[in-house]
Amino acid sequence: MTAIQATMRLSQTLFGATFHNPVLLAAGTCGFGEELRDALDLPSLGGIVTKSVTLEPRAGNPAPRVVEAGNAMLNSVGLANPGLERVCSEKLPWMREHLSGIQVFVSVAGHNPEEYWRIVEGLESVGGFLGYELNLSCPNDTRLGGLPFALDPDALRGVVEGARRLTDRPLLVKLAPNVPDIGPVAEAAEEAGADGLTLVNTLPGLIIDIESRSATLGGGPGGLSGPALRAVGVHAVHRARACTAIPLLGVGGITAAGDAIQYLLAGASLVQVGTATFADPRAAQRMGRGIARYGQKMGIEDIQDLVGTYRGVEDHPVSVSGGDRPVSVSGEPS
Ligand SMILES: Cc1cc2nc3c(=O)[nH]c(=O)nc-3n(C[C@H](O)[C@H](O)[C@H](O)COP(=O)(O)O)c2cc1C
Repeated sequence: MTAIQATMRLSQTLFGATFHNPVLLAAGTCGFGEELRDALDLPSLGGIVTKSVTLEPRAGNPAPRVVEAGNAMLNSVGLANPGLERVCSEKLPWMREHLSGIQVFVSVAGHNPEEYWRIVEGLESVGGFLGYELNLSCPNDTRLGGLPFALDPDALRGVVEGARRLTDRPLLVKLAPNVPDIGPVAEAAEEAGADGLTLVNTLPGLIIDIESRSATLGGGPGGLSGPALRAVGVHAVHRARACTAIPLLGVGGITAAGDAIQYLLAGASLVQVGTATFADPRAAQRMGRGIARYGQKMGIEDIQDLVGTYRGVEDHPVSVSGGDRPVSVSGEPS
């Protein structure tokens, strides 16, 4: 008689909380949960990250806000959200009542460090969620050039240090992929007090309508997401894993369990699903089972024995800008 192989355990304790499934929904693609309550079984997921919350309500950018871009999607939503006050009075109470079995991170966005801190202070006084995810892809209007915080390690450090002083809740920092080397940015976030890193946000892109010679999106340029972003995201996780010790959350182009497993192998403990939910609201719901089946097939009993087990190849030096010498990055093609 052949022994029945046990299913891989998916449950993990991270940030002092239990995630019974490693798959979460990504910021901006599931609203505050309520919007998707009838489309999928939210309690079966590991958790959600809310739409980014700003101090004031934002109507967002003109339509169209989303277009197809080859094997990807380009969006320019403009952080449309109800603002801090309504999130505290309407969204958090709903989430507390309906999402108590899963972990909720509230995404926070601002144009200067003080805005981030005032939002964290406001949310702290209400509660009803596990932690924060700082969306640092917003332009910083306090520094010349207005570079998004996620592209400017010193500016990033300032926001994160200030937020860290205001809360004991888990603090995730979401990084952008369009930097020469994400390693030092990840290090800066960890040193500033982040408990975890989310990699990656969308990549800047532009689609031009050749008849009108204007942008296809109402807001002009947008953020690229979906399958075309996946290899970029997996590489970012691999690089951050080599530079930091805190838990990582992988996001970008995950449409099926196999994609999520790549992120886990690269070193992410949790994954987030964004664009795939638009095509199939139940995509994220199916992934947990697929990941468990893979573990079973590979004879792995616990998901933690899978995380970070990418084997890599011999080190090849990869030239990255920002330094005189090539930097050796394990597992890179030359
Ligand atoms: C329509 C749309 C809206 C988004 N809004 C936010 C947001 O408010 N805050 C944020 O941090 N990321 C936002 N993102 C980025 C996603 O959370 C995610 O990082 C990115 O889309 C890559 O994952 P994916 O390829 O699975 O979509 C948004 C993405 C899309 C497609």
